[in-house]
Amino acid sequence: MFLTINSTASLKEFLKEQKKSGKKIGFVPTMGALHQGHLSLVEKSCIDCDVTVVSIFVNPTQFNDKSDYNRYPRIPEKDFDLLAKTKCDVVFLPSADEMYPDGLNNIEIPSIEQIDKVLEGSKRPGHFDGVITIVKKLFDIVEPDKAFFGQKDYQQCLVIKKMTKAFNLDIEIVVCPIIRENDGLAMSSRNMLLNDEERRFAPKIYQSLKTAQEMLKNHSIEEIKNQVTSFLSTAPFVKIDYFEIVDANNLKAIKSISNYKEVVICTAIFVGKIRLIDNILVNLEYVY
Ligand code: PAJ
Repeated sequence: MFLTINSTASLKEFLKEQKKSGKKIGFVPTMGALHQGHLSLVEKSCIDCDVTVVSIFVNPTQFNDKSDYNRYPRIPEKDFDLLAKTKCDVVFLPSADEMYPDGLNNIEIPSIEQIDKVLEGSKRPGHFDGVITIVKKLFDIVEPDKAFFGQKDYQQCLVIKKMTKAFNLDIEIVVCPIIRENDGLAMSSRNMLLNDEERRFAPKIYQSLKTAQEMLKNHSIEEIKNQVTSFLSTAPFVKIDYFEIVDANNLKAIKSISNYKEVVICTAIFVGKIRLIDNILVNLEYVY
């Protein structure tokens, strides 16, 4: 069974002892409302490392939309039940005062080549400033050897990698595959907020990504976007926030696939009030 720790001082104390005895520390930051996607990161950390720390903290500074923050699911008891089935060693549950003792201010954000300004960054102003701030604070407390993130948040993975480099942190960032429901919907803590009708629509998001991937071979980007827009615009409660095909390395929009090795097809869709994101990474050298 895992330890639950609320204070930074106690966590540091515990980890100091572990590190002294040469143990490798794995870290999985989360905002809770855990599902199999989160647990896959925990399982990977338990395989790769001697001690696995999972944090659960709904970080206020990364929510640009207050109502999204307020409705974000908080179900710690269920999270503990799920984590009890893993080999995780510590669950860190800090309060907002513990993480932000001087108020909800962001750290000084390093320049990371505009990676944080496009896609999610442009649609959710300030979002990545909040993500960088909390992940840097958590990294400073845990000082892990490896930290585990999901490809579900592809842009977040790139942002964290760049941030880690910018601050010269000696932490390996491990990106784990997207875990999906049987119908293809990417698992997300927000899925439980969908009503029945919205939930029935939601698998179309992954279908649209697959369609786009298929079409990449012999259609222009414009044709793909038109096709996908009409495929998704079948319900009145759906709004496409963006649907983009970008260079996997720098997230710049591409005009055609020639000369690219790896692209990401990524989208954010409002299904009712709930904003869902998903992506597919396409290795063009390998696939075509
Ligand atoms: P959260 O949305 O709780 O996600 C925690 C981690 O789980 C992230 O690395 C995310 O990419 C991963 N994840 C979520 N759904 C997944 C899925 N279906 N398959 C695989 N991995 C999945 O991302 C955050 O929290 C926050 O921004 C955080 C990094 C904790 C900073 O507050």
